[in-house]
Amino acid sequence: MDESSILIVGAKGQLGLALQEIYPGAKSASIDDLDITDADSVKNFDWDDIEVLINAAAYTNVPEAESQEGRTAAWNVNAVAVGNLAKVAQLHDMTLVHISTAYVFNGELDMHTEYEPFSPLSSYGSSKAAGDIAANFAEKHYIIRTSAVVGKGKNFVRSLLGAGKKGISPKVVADETDRPTFTSELTRAIDFLLKQQHPYGVYNVTNGGDVVSWADFARAIYAAAGFDTLTVTDSTAAEYFAGQAIADKRPVHGALDLSKMEKLGFKFTDWREELKLYVEAELNTEKEK
Ligand SMILES: NC(=O)c1ccc[n+]([C@@H]2O[C@H](COP(=O)([O-])OP(=O)(O)OC[C@H]3O[C@@H](n4cnc5c(N)ncnc54)[C@H](OP(=O)(O)O)[C@@H]3O)[C@@H](O)[C@H]2O)c1
Repeated sequence: MDESSILIVGAKGQLGLALQEIYPGAKSASIDDLDITDADSVKNFDWDDIEVLINAAAYTNVPEAESQEGRTAAWNVNAVAVGNLAKVAQLHDMTLVHISTAYVFNGELDMHTEYEPFSPLSSYGSSKAAGDIAANFAEKHYIIRTSAVVGKGKNFVRSLLGAGKKGISPKVVADETDRPTFTSELTRAIDFLLKQQHPYGVYNVTNGGDVVSWADFARAIYAAAGFDTLTVTDSTAAEYFAGQAIADKRPVHGALDLSKMEKLGFKFTDWREELKLYVEAELNTEKEK
């Protein structure tokens, strides 16, 4: 696969930045270069040399997607725009790589396979489920479902490191579980599927390792950062999101079953190992500033 035949859209997001690290020779477009909700711009883009179109763009503000304005924006970026991309992928015989989420499920099962039917609770989850359906219209597609993404950008680990540095002992949701995904794992899995030309379809990708509550994840972050004098206390989603429309629309269980990728020979890295490296890098960057 020639890297210059790859186009990454949504290039300034967490995944977009990580993809540019793994594919330095790829073309990339941020929203300023290509707004994927603009059907004409997508149609008229120069697709001549592109064989693989990776969609790292999304509306990811989950609580805000519950507002009327946010709902419209989320549906535009996460569903309508994916239709725009699927259409050009089909027209120009490109492979579309699209990213989905565990929020397309209601979270009642403690582990989600690729075969579970859609049951989104939130506006964000519904818009992403519609995006999965739209991505299907490109014959050559990989839909990568993931959860709790951590890279260079706004994410749970960075928020907790920020809190710890301020000496805060936080209360964190303990009645929802998940398994984190570092963008390095996500890009490694995308590269694995593309390079080895595995069958098109839906694939779950998170890091490997144990499934944890957000409170236990926070404790692991505090331990990795050496915030030994601070404590993380258990809270509930109802308490933490009290008064917000998203409060009862979050899947209780967000962890994804990884056996489909494992059967193809992909070896997942334990999230706890990646967390140590990530926290170390973040704290070192802080020191250099
Ligand atoms: N973050 C998570 O925890 C999580 C969990 C599960 C699944 N996912 C999925 O994983 C994928 C990557 O997430 P991420 O964390 O990397 O997201 P992110 O950091 O929020 O990045 C999304 C990027 O998309 C861009 N974008 C928004 N609207 C656009 C448009 N109309 N045209 C072009 N670009 C646009 C954003 O630009 P601006 O910032 O300028 O708006 C941003 O750079 C998404 O599909 C997301 O739904 C994420």
